[in-house]
Amino acid sequence: MIAMAPTPVHLPVMPDEAMHYLAPRAGGVYIDCTTGLGGHSKRIAQAIGPEGRLLCIDQDGEALEFARANLNPFGRRIKFARGNFSELAAIAATNGFDSADGILMDLGVSSLQFDSAPRGFSFSHEGPLDMRMSREAGVLTAGEIVNQWEESEIADVLWKYGEIGQSRRVAAAIVRARPLRTTTDLAQVSEQALGSARKHQKIHPATQVFLALRIRVNGELDSLDSVLPQARGLLSLGPSGGGRLVAISFHSLEDRVVKQYIRREATGCICPPELPVCRCGHIATLRDLTRRAIRPGFAEVAANPRARSAVLRAAERVA
Ligand SMILES: C[S@@+](CC[C@H](N)C(=O)[O-])C[C@H]1O[C@@H](n2cnc3c(N)ncnc32)[C@H](O)[C@@H]1O
Repeated sequence: MIAMAPTPVHLPVMPDEAMHYLAPRAGGVYIDCTTGLGGHSKRIAQAIGPEGRLLCIDQDGEALEFARANLNPFGRRIKFARGNFSELAAIAATNGFDSADGILMDLGVSSLQFDSAPRGFSFSHEGPLDMRMSREAGVLTAGEIVNQWEESEIADVLWKYGEIGQSRRVAAAIVRARPLRTTTDLAQVSEQALGSARKHQKIHPATQVFLALRIRVNGELDSLDSVLPQARGLLSLGPSGGGRLVAISFHSLEDRVVKQYIRREATGCICPPELPVCRCGHIATLRDLTRRAIRPGFAEVAANPRARSAVLRAAERVA
């Protein structure tokens, strides 16, 4: 008998809250920018019914294949597109989505990616230092950064994306330990460099090192910066209310980008306060639906510990 590989599972984070703010309606048009295994998409597909349309985007071809299988029962109401959401406007246009009643972003990596040793995202599974969400996307891997970049460049990455106070110490340890081949090599070096300084902390010393490298490898903050205005541009402006943007972030840097973008676009004049009259001419194009960040409840975090750092923000397009 042939042993079947188990189907990967990813529990969608804050599914009820995401649907509450996205408010998908029958016959509506929606875009899931981060389809993963299709958990949130399934909820959207159910809500929009056979007349609705959903565009499911992911840059990870493997994830998209699982999503296709999981969402197969919804047939023609769903289109799939592999690509980086930093190209959202072009991907939407290519697939015939001129505007959307709702756009969802559930950022970061899925369990499929995180738990797969060959993808190299986690120090809990020994694998190559890869960390690319899209294996087609360019050549940069975590291995290239730790083995080929200058010590000061590595320190910058750790400082900027991991907010690691001892970034220089870790960068120096990485350079001394070259070549680093596996996630275990990097976890050990991180632990040696940071272990004593972080003994009082609950998280593993390598956590922030891995996070920083992953963010840099995938250009995560740049993609987020670039997708937000494109998403706003696609949101519909209907008589019964504008289209909605829902973003779920998993670390403070990501959440800051989303929060600042929504605040800015939900504000009229953005001139410096010392100017007596408005010179910017900026007008609000969004309404902030979540002035205070929405976080998962205790029950969800108990059932799905990966939800613990999630923060949801939402906004609605206004004329
Ligand atoms: C947290 S998972 C989404 C899980 C999904 N909501 C579900 O319920 O199964 C994030 C997904 O977004 C994808 N992703 C992250 N950044 C992306 C980007 N810039 N462009 C396209 N996909 C991206 C990842 O490949 C991953 O599959």
